[in-house]
Amino acid sequence: MKKILLQLDVDQQPCSFDAVVAIDAGADILLRHGNVSPDNVVSLIHGVMFTRGASDLASTSIFLGGKNIPQVEAIASQISKTFFKSVRVSVFIDPAGANTTAAATVIAAKRHISFKSSSGGKACHALVLGSTGPVGQRVSRLLGNQGAHVHLASRSFERASQYCNLLSEKFPHAHLEPTSVDKLEKVIGSVNLIISAGGPGVEMLTKAQYLQATSTSVYIDLNAVPPAGITGIHANDTARRDSTKILYGALGIGEIKMKIHKAAIKRLFQTNDLWLDAEELLRIGEEVDVSNEQPNQ
Ligand SMILES: NC(=O)c1ccc[n+]([C@@H]2O[C@H](COP(=O)([O-])OP(=O)(O)OC[C@H]3O[C@@H](n4cnc5c(N)ncnc54)[C@H](OP(=O)(O)O)[C@@H]3O)[C@@H](O)[C@H]2O)c1
Repeated sequence: MKKILLQLDVDQQPCSFDAVVAIDAGADILLRHGNVSPDNVVSLIHGVMFTRGASDLASTSIFLGGKNIPQVEAIASQISKTFFKSVRVSVFIDPAGANTTAAATVIAAKRHISFKSSSGGKACHALVLGSTGPVGQRVSRLLGNQGAHVHLASRSFERASQYCNLLSEKFPHAHLEPTSVDKLEKVIGSVNLIISAGGPGVEMLTKAQYLQATSTSVYIDLNAVPPAGITGIHANDTARRDSTKILYGALGIGEIKMKIHKAAIKRLFQTNDLWLDAEELLRIGEEVDVSNEQPNQ
């Protein structure tokens, strides 16, 4: 039975990066649809639910992507409502690569930092620059769920507050705090982890700010387009040491991200009831990181 992946994207063009990774990870056939919305997704989902028999449903899966996170979430909710009983297929949600990238980022940080407070001590304080983008939102969500106190930074305090509120509604236990990039000096000296998730080619942390961050032991820059998001980090850095600081660049994180992405595609076709969102992808990433599992090339 051929492995068919239904690639749904809220953007006009379904993402070619996601298509290539799907083929490399073992999908035999890709059915690609752009401009997907909650209004037009149901017939696409019925098409994969009712064509193959129950025992073959695991050979069909769905990948859902696109830049607009609220739109992707609305479609995911519609897909979930369309399934019934065991008449369903596995689903992998990765808007703009945000879930797999955020999972890889958290895994890299966790190699060096404990997020939760131990025996009443202070929890890890993390600063996320560019926190309002798809990747920054997911990094903030995963860090908050892991027990870190997360400072979400934006050029606009209102925008940072809005995203904090949205996340807090879904994850009330998470410690999330908005901040504005022009007030960074208030938090920069007290955070243990800094993640730069700003747009491509945008410097988010200057050298002077890097030096002011005297409590920070791990820095992660997700931007691969020069100039660096965090001045001094190279895209290839993978746990490079700069005195007491540990540095990761975009390609260092990208390597972990690709392992998670390929492992997730492989798992989609093992059963018909997987639902892989940010938290599930983090769990897959932890397993892949521990076992150093090499997905099929
Ligand atoms: N390493 C990997 O494997 C990997 C995978 C996927 C993505 N990425 C990278 O991860 C980063 C984040 O991706 P994304 O899609 O979330 O990014 P994005 O939506 O383009 O930008 C994220 C945030 O950066 C801020 N920003 C944008 N332009 C800015 C500017 N000129 N000055 C200051 N702040 C600016 C904005 O926040 P405010 O407007 O609220 O300030 C924006 O919401 C990108 O660099 C992307 O290339 C890396």
